Amino acid sequence: MPTRVSVVTVSDSSFEGKRADESGPTLARLVAASEKAHVELVGDVHVVPDVFQEIASKLQELIPTSDVIITTGGTGFAPRDVTPEATLSVLERRCGGLETALHMRSLQATPMAALSRAVVGIASRTLIINFPGSVKAVKECWEVVEKVVDHAVALIC
Ligand code: MTE
Repeated sequence: MPTRVSVVTVSDSSFEGKRADESGPTLARLVAASEKAHVELVGDVHVVPDVFQEIASKLQELIPTSDVIITTGGTGFAPRDVTPEATLSVLERRCGGLETALHMRSLQATPMAALSRAVVGIASRTLIINFPGSVKAVKECWEVVEKVVDHAVALIC
């Protein structure tokens, strides 16, 4: 059985239709086309605003049908960047190794990666991963995840 991956874009402007979501669909395409991981995309890209309860509720909704949920956006220092806090509110176990791997890869790409507060962890039997919100960041972070995701899910389930 392929690993079921859900994608959630966290963005006020995309939720309000003021800016087209590019990072979510990019990630969805990367998942669908992956040759390194045995993954399948579950459903469409979900778009939620930068609102703690909306993000947490979407994660809770997707947990029963997803082996992995990847969020994109809302990990920075702006007052409305609350994706890490909303994610932490549903996590049961933190995955510091994967957080470090993502940060190391991101810091190779840009010193601005130090400005992401992205977290990774496990809730029930679902791995939840925060990516930053740019298309570039999504591509760089997926490089890391696609190498380890199948083994990670095999260990969790
Ligand atoms: N990580 C990677 N891999 N590549 C990037 O281009 N951009 C950084 C950082 N992490 C970046 C990255 C920038 S500029 C910011 S502000 C933070 O992620 C937070 O982004 P977010 O608020 O869209 O989540």
